[in-house]
Amino acid sequence: MNGSRNLLVSVLMLMPLSGLISAAETEREPYDDRYCTTCHGIDGIGNEGVQAPRLAGMEDWYLRRQLENFRAGLRGRHPQDIEGLAMQPMAAKLTDASIDELVEWVGSWEYKPAEHTISGDVNAGRRLYASCAACHGADGEGNEALGAPQLAGQNDWYLLTQLKNFKARFRGNEQGDTYGQQMMTMAQSLPNEQAMRNVVAYINTLSGN
Ligand code: HEC
Ligand code: HEC
Repeated sequence: MNGSRNLLVSVLMLMPLSGLISAAETEREPYDDRYCTTCHGIDGIGNEGVQAPRLAGMEDWYLRRQLENFRAGLRGRHPQDIEGLAMQPMAAKLTDASIDELVEWVGSWEYKPAEHTISGDVNAGRRLYASCAACHGADGEGNEALGAPQLAGQNDWYLLTQLKNFKARFRGNEQGDTYGQQMMTMAQSLPNEQAMRNVVAYINTLSGN
């Protein structure tokens, strides 16, 4: 476990989470599931303290798929996927109607690219990214037809966690998670954490769209 994971665990232990959610439930309309910014940050721009990534500006099809996958237990199930385990219960009780509402609500937030926190060998990262571009696009803009999300503008610490989780098969290993399985296979080509940092440092230079 690295420092941020320990921090996440302690934050989650300190947070009166169930109380927080039931308090929110009594205050809001049914299906008005707007407690997301508690973790995902003001304006949904991400919150490194609890490792919850930026949602503002996320593609609607990708946001929907992740909520459905968390709800179905295709993501956030592995006992060592600490961050995914924190998110999974947030989606577990969503109905189709509340997912529709959330996609619309989050879609109304203003896109702001995340701040950079990770540095690495950008040139080495560029060479590694050549194989990623086929799916995620040369500018990291994503490709809906292939189901590959935009990477540019996302929190770099989150991208790094995901690469580690895919490589360790904590994410993408559930039967039925077709897109996650593809990415899990791709992550095996990154030999170590330094390679992951380098490719993320290169993604930080991309503009998306
Ligand atoms: C208890 C804190 C918490 C709350 C509340 C929460 N999330 Fe999350 N969420 C997380 C964490 C942590 C992650 C990162 C999971 C990972 O690293 O795999 C995450 C990941 C996600 C992802 C995946 C993003 C991606 O790029 O794949 C989506 C989508 C998401 N959350 C949407 C929501 C929505 C919508 C809500 C409100 C209904 C919400 N979350 C409420 C903690 C939370
Ligand atoms: C064969 C197509 C393909 C290739 C090549 C590919 N990916 Fe992916 N990637 C995907 C798909 C599909 C997803 C979405 C998985 C899901 O829905 O859970 C994804 C998800 C991701 C995520 C998680 C994003 C998030 O918001 O949670 C990261 C990070 C990522 N890819 C980085 C990379 C990097 C870096 C490379 C190159 C080493 C790469 N990908 C190569 C298809 C691909």
